[in-house]
Amino acid sequence: MNILITGATGFIASHTIVELIESGHNIIGIDNLSNSSADVVDKIAKITGKKIDFYPVDICDYSALKSVLKDKKIDCCMHFAGLKAVGESVAKPIEYYENNIGGTITLLKVLKEIGCKNLIFSSSATVYGTPEFVPITEECPKGICTNPYGWTKSMIEQILLDLQNADKSWNVVILRYFNPIGAHPSGVIGENPNGVPNNLMPYITQVASGKREKLFVYGDDYDTPDGTGVRDYIHVVDLAQGHVKALNAINNNCGCEIFNLGTGHGYSVLDVVRTFEKVNGIKIPYEIVARRSGDIAMCYASPDKANSVLGWSAKYSLEDMCRDSWNYQQKN
Ligand code: WQD
Repeated sequence: MNILITGATGFIASHTIVELIESGHNIIGIDNLSNSSADVVDKIAKITGKKIDFYPVDICDYSALKSVLKDKKIDCCMHFAGLKAVGESVAKPIEYYENNIGGTITLLKVLKEIGCKNLIFSSSATVYGTPEFVPITEECPKGICTNPYGWTKSMIEQILLDLQNADKSWNVVILRYFNPIGAHPSGVIGENPNGVPNNLMPYITQVASGKREKLFVYGDDYDTPDGTGVRDYIHVVDLAQGHVKALNAINNNCGCEIFNLGTGHGYSVLDVVRTFEKVNGIKIPYEIVARRSGDIAMCYASPDKANSVLGWSAKYSLEDMCRDSWNYQQKN
């Protein structure tokens, strides 16, 4: 299939492109390069031997988007592009709503105009807010998001549901990611956040490399086994494979389907620290500090629906995630 990837040089998209190429698909990639660099295209070529068709285009720019796509035969779009820093979204809500929601609406208009009505959307478990129950199934009601970033994901899901309800010729698959970490085992691509990492694993790898003095653990007084936050960490390559499998739902004219992409296992912050130390033989100094506002205690998936409907399940362990994250940090 000819797959359009938005946000193509980003962490999840770049790993997904590798798996799509290795599954025989053709890729057209676009990215405004606001939070990544074009050399990721060469890195993907280094891994796969294929250089994708790439355009440095912003999804908010209707005329640029239309001129790039008007002569392309796109079978399906995988939409990853979006601003995603939770803390930044609190400080810059208008930028987040304009870019994430406005950009998606522009993309949907162009896709319709070029005759592509198949979309796989990069959503997030953050749409559950504080989940009503764990493990979280797709039937769990969406909750109150604690930041504008999360709200953009939740609102875009609603836009897609309403679009498909109004025009049944659309096929929409919404993938709710849990906590993607790790890197391609080659160490050629991985997670490369700008500035001080918001997320746990890139912060740990920067402590391990000596770039940061110690990890600050945001609270150990949650109602969890060791008091620190519990999350469902999923290897980014497992997540990428989930997108390859999601094409089956599109090809089966699924209408509109939602899938959780998680391992089904919850690990605490200290579980991750200890596993990283054991696997890589590196001490990670840490200090328990106050909770981070907006954090929830516990969040992990029931992946049963993706297992049964998509024939997908996560294969990599937390050890693999810690090993591959560190391997990437060392090589870059
Ligand atoms: C994980 C755990 C923290 C950093 C967010 C978004 C989600 C997705 C993934 C984009 C929590 C603790 C973290 C640190 C810490 N983002 N922690 N010290 O908040 O679960 O999810 O990132 O798609 O949509 O909501 O991930 O990695 O920030 O935090 O103690 O320096 O690690 O409190 O318990 P989170 P995270």
